[in-house]
Amino acid sequence: MRRILICGSNGLLGQRLALLLSSQTDYEVLNTSRNRSFVFDDRLFDYTQLDVTQKGDVKSLISSFHPTVIINASGATDVDWCELHREDAWKTNVVGVENLIEAARKVGARLIHVSTDYVFDGNHGPYSEEDKPNPISYYGKSKLASENAVRTASIPCTILRTILLYGYGIGVKDSFPHWVVRTLSKGGTIRCAEDQISNPTHVNDLAFAVIKAFELNRDGIYHICGLERISRYDFAHRTAEVFSLDADLITRIKSADLRQTAHRPLVTGFVTLKAQTELGLTPMDTRQGLTLFKRELESSGRN
Ligand SMILES: NC(=O)c1ccc[n+]([C@@H]2O[C@H](COP(=O)([O-])OP(=O)(O)OC[C@H]3O[C@@H](n4cnc5c(N)ncnc54)[C@H](OP(=O)(O)O)[C@@H]3O)[C@@H](O)[C@H]2O)c1
Repeated sequence: MRRILICGSNGLLGQRLALLLSSQTDYEVLNTSRNRSFVFDDRLFDYTQLDVTQKGDVKSLISSFHPTVIINASGATDVDWCELHREDAWKTNVVGVENLIEAARKVGARLIHVSTDYVFDGNHGPYSEEDKPNPISYYGKSKLASENAVRTASIPCTILRTILLYGYGIGVKDSFPHWVVRTLSKGGTIRCAEDQISNPTHVNDLAFAVIKAFELNRDGIYHICGLERISRYDFAHRTAEVFSLDADLITRIKSADLRQTAHRPLVTGFVTLKAQTELGLTPMDTRQGLTLFKRELESSGRN
């Protein structure tokens, strides 16, 4: 039986992995996150608080649980926050990963690490795994440093880069389509960049790739994203269509008009051929992903 440690179980990806893996009898799963409590009922899931930046805690938990696989779904993921809180962002995104690497090495565990399209500059997407990263934000720089730490660690490891994640999660920061739904359903107007282009990714596609990566013992970098490359403006429009909301409330703007704290790579997107052939990834397009997200929101009773 595989023993799986999930770090960052309270996040969007972490919650999805907790739900998918804990329901299977082939795995013994220990969920961990920085917060003292778990978003799910901890009588139904094994949960322990673990802050990945605390080296001693990481070391002792990993030596006692002795996982076969460590999935790092934790991270400082707010791009503007990272730009303003560089030391804290580095601690979570880089030092935390170095702690996991060191502890993984001691028990011979595979490390699955999740990274981002923000390691690229956005000048000429879509990117393949062979393209040279050149981050333009502090978040992107910290994630690239974490990738480099994992790549050079000489342990069994997989890096999955993903883009613009969405799906329903309890208490997580609103994903882009969730923000669109919340605002439009109250009759609010939104402004979306027509020149920010990427492949939005339903969290189930990423969770599927994480599971395949350890089931098939795949090493290296994989690009995981939704099927469709689309601008933020068009993605907001598609969201309005799927949720039957008023798309006239959406205005088309340029990314520069948003005056965001951190620079965003404008044109990214991934070539996913490697993940399709080696992991069996069959990603959803935006209509399929948004339809699933709508069902998730409806069954959660929230929006
Ligand atoms: N969201 C996106 O659009 C996107 C795009 C590309 C790549 N990614 C990458 O995908 C991964 C998962 O993203 P996500 O959207 O699922 O993230 P998320 O919803 O922001 O969740 C991250 C979780 O990490 C936990 N965490 C933060 N600092 C921690 C620490 N020091 N120790 C332990 N846990 C800590 C937090 O747990 P608590 O709640 O317990 O504090 C939080 O719930 C990240 O590596 C991210 O960089 C995300």
